Amino acid sequence: MAVQCSARYVVVAVVTIAAILTVSQAQAPDQATYLAAHNAARSELNVGLVPLVWNDAAYAVAASWAAGCQFDHNANRGNYGENIAWGTSLTATGAMKSWVAEKAKYDYATNTCSAVCGHYTQIVWNTTTSVGCASADCGTSIFHVCDYSPPGNVGNDPPY
Ligand SMILES: *[C@@H]1O[C@H](CO)[C@@H](O)[C@H](O)[C@H]1NC(C)=O
Repeated sequence: MAVQCSARYVVVAVVTIAAILTVSQAQAPDQATYLAAHNAARSELNVGLVPLVWNDAAYAVAASWAAGCQFDHNANRGNYGENIAWGTSLTATGAMKSWVAEKAKYDYATNTCSAVCGHYTQIVWNTTTSVGCASADCGTSIFHVCDYSPPGNVGNDPPY
């Protein structure tokens, strides 16, 4: 009896460890989509911007905030830059497109925006090296949150 119990515990322990390993190796939902869109926008400028890498800690902050469905910035996000977007059926691709489209509103020569362009300048910020993005289905809207490290849109310098 004792042996059977031990064996069962061993099996449970092995299954639990396997589950933890599976979770830690799993990609965040839409991770590849968010990353590829960020890095396409960065590389097409041809100014030597390094590709962003995925940031698990930033992802955890973004996922937690997205799940709260408050369509605003997370004041307690820590030292991260943050892009947010929400809309009916808004996909990760759609959110990224809306931010990258702000490129048309950004004038590098004067470092000014003719309309909102801060999501774009964060995406192409030269000292930002990593990002974590998440979304949540908030019923009427899908809420997308990306948190960046180090944060962009600081000071009066252009992004690159
Ligand atoms: C980032 O861009 C700013 C503004 O052009 C520039 O002053 C700075 O040297 C750049 N930093 C890096 C790491 O490329």
